[in-house]
Amino acid sequence: MAKTKTAFVCQSCGSQFPKWMGKCSSCGEWNSLIEEVIFKENKTGSRRNFADSLTKKPIPITQVKADDAERIPLPDEELTRVLGGGIVPGSVILIGGDPGIGKSTLLLQLGLNYQTKKILYVSGEESANQIKMRAERIGNLHDNLLLLTDTSLERVMERIEETEPDLVIIDSIQTMQSAEVDSVPGSVAQIRECTGELIQFAKETDTPVILIGHITKEGNIAGPKVMEHMVDVVLQFEGDRQHLYRLLRSSKNRFGSTNELGIYEMQGSGLKEVSNPSQVLMSQRDEGLSGSAIAASMEGARPMMIEVQALVGTAAYGTPQRTTTGFDQRRLHMLLAVLEKRCGLAVGKFDVFLNMAGGIRVDDPAIDMAAVCAALSSSEDYPIPAQTCFAGEVGLSGEIRPVTRIEQRIKEAEKLGFDEIYISAYGLKGLDLSKMAIKVRPVKRVDEVFGALFG
Ligand code: TYD
Ligand code: MG
Repeated sequence: MAKTKTAFVCQSCGSQFPKWMGKCSSCGEWNSLIEEVIFKENKTGSRRNFADSLTKKPIPITQVKADDAERIPLPDEELTRVLGGGIVPGSVILIGGDPGIGKSTLLLQLGLNYQTKKILYVSGEESANQIKMRAERIGNLHDNLLLLTDTSLERVMERIEETEPDLVIIDSIQTMQSAEVDSVPGSVAQIRECTGELIQFAKETDTPVILIGHITKEGNIAGPKVMEHMVDVVLQFEGDRQHLYRLLRSSKNRFGSTNELGIYEMQGSGLKEVSNPSQVLMSQRDEGLSGSAIAASMEGARPMMIEVQALVGTAAYGTPQRTTTGFDQRRLHMLLAVLEKRCGLAVGKFDVFLNMAGGIRVDDPAIDMAAVCAALSSSEDYPIPAQTCFAGEVGLSGEIRPVTRIEQRIKEAEKLGFDEIYISAYGLKGLDLSKMAIKVRPVKRVDEVFGALFG
């Protein structure tokens, strides 16, 4: 009987320490060490026999056969696009998202629509009955979709070997438990062990595996960051549960770009792909109203179009008010000073309110240009065309400064159906404007933008 061993495992990076510390010396995270019981059996007796890995030898890179073009398109266009043109055999995909956002629905629906392939859907979260009820809402039931409700990794692997599916879906990786690691499901050690085992299976049999991952309240995939390093593709499924729309983005993709965005609408009968996102976005806005401008913003590595709303009106009291929601108030003061000094607009005696639609807070200087345009649109009572958006920082002398990842922003605007985007004329290096379907308008100064918009 092997003796029980405990260790302090960093919940952020997965490093192990013999004693507790306030700060992980490996990744620098504070308060992330948790004691876990770790007991590893002798690995030689374990059941890793998908291929005899001992016979594998190093081979020259020229002799490695690579079926580069092999990508299997899925019966879900948005997912296919986000994956970069289809699923690569042997790849492991991790999908994260808030509870109730629709991860299980998305993948069950994929299984239901994928009638030509044998899919194994393993659920550790719901009973077969619950899944059946959900499947009936979605429709398209067929015999090639196999359901397994189990949480033991060993039993799941056995079933996988028996059924030889073309695609394995695990809902969720946090509920899986390997007997080789003696700690609770969802712990770092368990997640790492289960993920590792599934990756090994995927690579050795060329079977793609999709893992559903829970998300922590900070928005990270629960468990060690190492899991994100281990898998080939990391997708995020996000959206506001109060709203119908769901966005699928990739934050890591070993086989394609991470710029693609998938959009779905949650309906009574599952998720519907939204092939024309511009309509969706536009229908939520009141066209022809002044004081609104769209910024092509970034949140971390994620592009995101945000509506900036401004209201400029005569001050009712002696001191004009400056109120913002989701926008830095000092930044607004600075922008108003620029408008006053460089564009000759007497905003000093007006109340100015500035809101980010939905109250989303994004600290991105690229929102500046949309903010000043929204303010001017409101003060002139002249609407900005609904299909126009902005991405530029405003400098103290009224110049429009370039912002990071401009190409990604332009792509997002194009994807969301915008006709034109105003950007800084100083950041055009490396941009091939002729290839873009959207009209890119490079501008140097704030008054130049105003001239073009309100002329
Ligand atoms: P679910 O896939 O269970 O979320 P997750 O696995 O990410 O936790 O999504 C459940 C939500 O989706 C639930 O609140 C009901 C809603 N839903 C619909 O609106 N229509 C449908 O057809 C289905 C299946 C679910
Ligand atoms: Mg679920």
